[in-house]
Order: sequence, then structure tokens, then C-alpha cells
Amino acid sequence: MRVIKTVSEMSAEAARLRGEGKHIAFVPTMGNLHEGHLSLMRAARPRANVLVISIFVNPLQFEPGSDFDAYPRTFREDLKKCEPVGVDIVFAPTEPDLYPEGFQTTVEVTEISKGLCGDFRPGHFKGVATVVLKLFNIVKPHVAVFGEKDYQQLCVIRRMVKDLNLDVEILGHPTVREADGLAMSSRNQYLSPDERKRAALLYKFLTEARKRYERGERRAQALIARVQNGLARDPRISVEYVSIRDRETLAPLDTVDRPAVMALAVHIGKTRLIDNIFLDQQKM
Ligand code: PAF
Repeated sequence: MRVIKTVSEMSAEAARLRGEGKHIAFVPTMGNLHEGHLSLMRAARPRANVLVISIFVNPLQFEPGSDFDAYPRTFREDLKKCEPVGVDIVFAPTEPDLYPEGFQTTVEVTEISKGLCGDFRPGHFKGVATVVLKLFNIVKPHVAVFGEKDYQQLCVIRRMVKDLNLDVEILGHPTVREADGLAMSSRNQYLSPDERKRAALLYKFLTEARKRYERGERRAQALIARVQNGLARDPRISVEYVSIRDRETLAPLDTVDRPAVMALAVHIGKTRLIDNIFLDQQKM
């Protein structure tokens, strides 16, 4: 496994690999790797000859006043986790190399970035789209894997790839969960033991909503209200949003009459958590 720290070296290596006819799979991360990230890498591994992952805490996607400085940086531990899952190259650029002085170009995927997390994290998806496009240009992957936990992010990337005719296949990978259903996230470590117990309620209510959907409930508001009210009963949980959206366009639905995702964001204490569930099992 090689660690590459400069944009020029990574770009030259990717061009060389492509020149040799090698297929490149890519998993971008912000480090602090957990089982969720490793499952993306395992999914990517058989898709290509060379597996590249990136570790870069992207300042552009942290809205002012958010946890950029506090974001856990665990580079040495991360490297130890990469090798056993078959990573070939860890690309870990520095901030001045990726965003040199004078940098001013950004990418905005306008509509699909609105609503849900987009309403609460201004500029977040612009930062994500910009860094992912830059990483794609440097790493030149044939295929890139993203987690379905950050479902709006996945939709933003898919839309950007389509709109800008990028030659990269985007794979969504199912959310990896703890034994009690909590979606794995770097932010889970901020939860106190008491908050951690409460965090299991998110998936509990999402799965309950799916059961009601499976029993025939199609009114989005009825499904949403149950989840909202259930979570609101816990005084430590403050609900940011619960919403049901078209699974591809993320348009809000009144009636669940097509493939849909139920997504939510809450604060438990100081920690913001997101999660989602597909109401139907249909593959898209
Ligand atoms: O999902 C993440 O970890 C980040 O948003 C990503 C895709 C690595 C871009 O910084």
C-alpha cells in the first residue's frame, strides 16, 4: 500500500495506471475510518485492479461554526485499517495543495442540494460536489463508491456525474449499522453513553414506518408524523427534519406511490445524526 500526499504525484500515477489499462476504483473519505468506510472499500475492491481511497477533511463542506476543527483526525490508525481490506493507494492531500491560493471555482448541484440537510447546512453540498469533482479529476477512477447513509450526498454526486458527463460509475452502498440499528458514523463517538442508547430510536422509528408502509399506508404525512412524534417524546432528541422523498429526484412526496426514501436528521445533545430507510425494497 502506498501513501501519496501530493496532487501532482497522484494525478501522474492515475494517468500511468490508466495508460497500462488498469481499472481504478475509488472511495473518498474524510478519515476516522470505521466499519462503514471499510465496507465501501470491500465493495469497491473487486470492481477494479487498483483501489484508491482518499483521506481529506474538506474545509469547504463545513458550514461556518460547525465542527471542522474538532473533526477527528486519526491518520495513523486509518492507515492500519486500509491495508487488510486491500487498499493499494491512500491519497491524502494537504489543504494548500488541493485549494491553493487564489482558488475560487466551485460546483453547485442546485436543486437536489436543496431541502433535507441542504436547508440546515448552507453551502455543504457545494463543498462536497467541488471536492469530489476535484478528486475525480486527480484520481481518474472508473468507479467510485459512496454510502447510502449520506443519501442526499449520493444523489448530488449522481446528478453531478450525469450533468457534467463525467466518465465514472457511481455505486451506492447500503448503510452499515451497529447491533441496535444505529447507522455507523464518525459522529457517534461524540455521544455520551446515555445519548448513544437514545440514538437507537432513529432506526427503530424508521423501521416501524417501513412496516406501516408495507401494511399499506401510503400517506406520507401519516408516516412522517409517527416518526416525528415518536422521536419528540424523548426530551434529549431534537428533530431537525423527517421527510419522505422520491428516491431519485428527492422531490417531496404526499403519496408514496413510487420508490421512496424516508430521511431524517436529529440532534441528540450536541451531536447531529442523520439516517434514512428505503420504504420499498425495489432496486433502482
Ligand atoms: O462522505 C464524506 O466523507 C465526504 O462528504 C466526502 C464524500 C469524502 C467528500 O469530502
